[in-house]
Amino acid sequence: MQKAVDLDKSDPLAHLREAFFLPEGMIYFDGNSLGAMPRAALGIVSEATQQEWASDLITSWNKAGWFDLPTRYGDLLAPVIGADAGEVVICDSTSINLYKALFAALSLRPDRTVILAEKSSFPTDLYMIEGALAARPELEMRLVEDLAGAITEDIAVVLVNHVDYRSGKLADVAGITARAHEMGAVVIWDLCHSAGILPVELNLHGADLAIGCTYKYLNGGPGAPAFVFCAAKHLPHISQPLSGWWGHAKPFDFDTGYAPDAGIRKFLCGTQPILSFRALEAGLDIISGLDMALVRAKSQSLTALFIERVEAQIPALKLVSPKDAALRGSQVSFSHPQAYPIVQALIERGVVGDFRMPNVLRFGFSPLYLSHMDVVNAVEILQDIMENKTWEAPRFQARGAVT
Ligand SMILES: Cc1ncc(COP(=O)(O)O)c(C=O)c1O
Repeated sequence: MQKAVDLDKSDPLAHLREAFFLPEGMIYFDGNSLGAMPRAALGIVSEATQQEWASDLITSWNKAGWFDLPTRYGDLLAPVIGADAGEVVICDSTSINLYKALFAALSLRPDRTVILAEKSSFPTDLYMIEGALAARPELEMRLVEDLAGAITEDIAVVLVNHVDYRSGKLADVAGITARAHEMGAVVIWDLCHSAGILPVELNLHGADLAIGCTYKYLNGGPGAPAFVFCAAKHLPHISQPLSGWWGHAKPFDFDTGYAPDAGIRKFLCGTQPILSFRALEAGLDIISGLDMALVRAKSQSLTALFIERVEAQIPALKLVSPKDAALRGSQVSFSHPQAYPIVQALIERGVVGDFRMPNVLRFGFSPLYLSHMDVVNAVEILQDIMENKTWEAPRFQARGAVT
């Protein structure tokens, strides 16, 4: 307890909690699914609706710079993931961007046909590979347990989840990228669970392509547009199949034939959801001004404290995440046969985490709005629920469409 108080007192990020809306009494461990709402988003969205849409209408494409938001916000995000300006574009959803990235990566290796990924990948990633296979039957999807050991000379593309969505295990960007390049393969990083929560350093490690969402640790809002990173060295040679007019070099020439933009805009397809873009600006403004080393240090401190206390107070929960803080992202997962009703009982008490099949209680830690005392208090509530078997109540058994 005293340890948590002391850690909070010396927390250099403590002031950031004020930048977010969070209901009184709620301890929010779901920033790895939907980040909290930045207070500034309210003003930006209200300006985007009342001024830019209601008053300025079509002129806002130029006047408010709507047309350039994908690259302007991409440039804001770039340093957060270790990229340079001009290498990141915000657009579409992660799934759609992955489809583009898969074909883009394949376009760099026309002589190879194997896409390698982990069985434990987030399912949409594997479903999108299946979609690529349906479009090009000569392709092969190879699913493995251990990625690094499976990168061989016949692999065209390696798709890696930087942080495993279920266990929180962190993949080795430097090692996997180096091994893939040695074997002549191109790597796509899915940064959904790492962007905005730990230093990613894409260019330092010579990364090729990456995709990710902005609604988790980047606090962009529900369904916020996603992003694509493409290393500058690949941009002149790479192509993607969703060749819509926003990716055209001169969209307002309205030419009959497609000629892609020379830069990162070639990853765009069509008109973007501008109101969602504007909501995202607030989250990007906060994160792009932060030292990611500080964010990582507090994230590791919060997750370590959570593991320490749960293991000491609630032996019935089994740790699923790596114990070594260096090997996990910013989430901690425990397993229990009754994981689902336990999570529901927690939510009723104001401690919001989520459940993942088959038996995982998942807790995400955003250092921007969580304190060490939040961790201590949440574990007390969890212990109380476990000891009193509160989760056995029938109301906690019913499953909603979203878990
Ligand atoms: C690793 C990973 N990839 C992709 C997605 C989802 O993609 P989309 O934003 O298209 O729904 C998620 C969603 O949680 C995810 O965790």
